[in-house]
Amino acid sequence: MEDDREYIQIKGSNSSMGQRVVLTPAIEKDIDLIVEIKTDISLWQYEDDVTTDKEAVRKNVVERLDGRWYKQYVIRLNTDQRTPIGAIHAHWYVKERESWELGYCVFPEYRRQGYATEAARLILKYAFDDWQAHRVVAMCNEHNIPSYNVLEKLGMTREGIFREELPWQGKWVDQYFYGILYSEFHKRSTNT
Ligand SMILES: CC(C)(COP(=O)(O)OP(=O)(O)OC[C@H]1O[C@@H](n2cnc3c(N)ncnc32)[C@H](O)[C@@H]1OP(=O)(O)O)[C@@H](O)C(=O)NCCC(=O)NCCS
Repeated sequence: MEDDREYIQIKGSNSSMGQRVVLTPAIEKDIDLIVEIKTDISLWQYEDDVTTDKEAVRKNVVERLDGRWYKQYVIRLNTDQRTPIGAIHAHWYVKERESWELGYCVFPEYRRQGYATEAARLILKYAFDDWQAHRVVAMCNEHNIPSYNVLEKLGMTREGIFREELPWQGKWVDQYFYGILYSEFHKRSTNT
């Protein structure tokens, strides 16, 4: 196995908590993979603004590698091969309000096996326990059922609907806004 310090994994008996995936903080050797993921339109069918400008995206990815306000991870299977199956990130939403925003993608062949939920749960744990988040939010296209199912499985609440906020496939669609508080996450963690 490569450098173990790169791996974030919740150890413990709760099988839903990161037993099947590990998150590795993006480092230089992951840049190509992250750029590919962020610019592959076919992976982001519910987004309205995916850029295919690889150079611009690469510049952003490199700038964010220091990881202070933008935490980028590769989602990998928890096997000896550490096969990459997607990417997940969290970034300051409103720094002064201690809120973070979450975003993720799992490659199509690995979907519907609970991997995004596991990966996002790890991120929530790190946000609340290590990055002093008071609140974590996420947004998605009203048609992105897989994404809001993940958010709801995490215990996040649909707090609002931004009506016709997104131009998508030639029409205006709603954006759902989800949030979870520190207190809710910890109450939930102790109950599961
Ligand atoms: C959203 C995404 C990350 C979900 O990944 P995933 O690993 O398949 O998610 P999970 O397996 O953890 O699924 C969580 C829940 O959503 C449900 N779900 C997943 N895909 C679904 C689908 N296509 N239709 C309906 N429900 C779905 C799962 O069934 C699961 O609920 P269950 O355990 O009760 O069955 C993945 O579909 C993806 O990468 N989409 C493209 C990128 C994207 O849209 N990102 C979000 C931008 S807001």
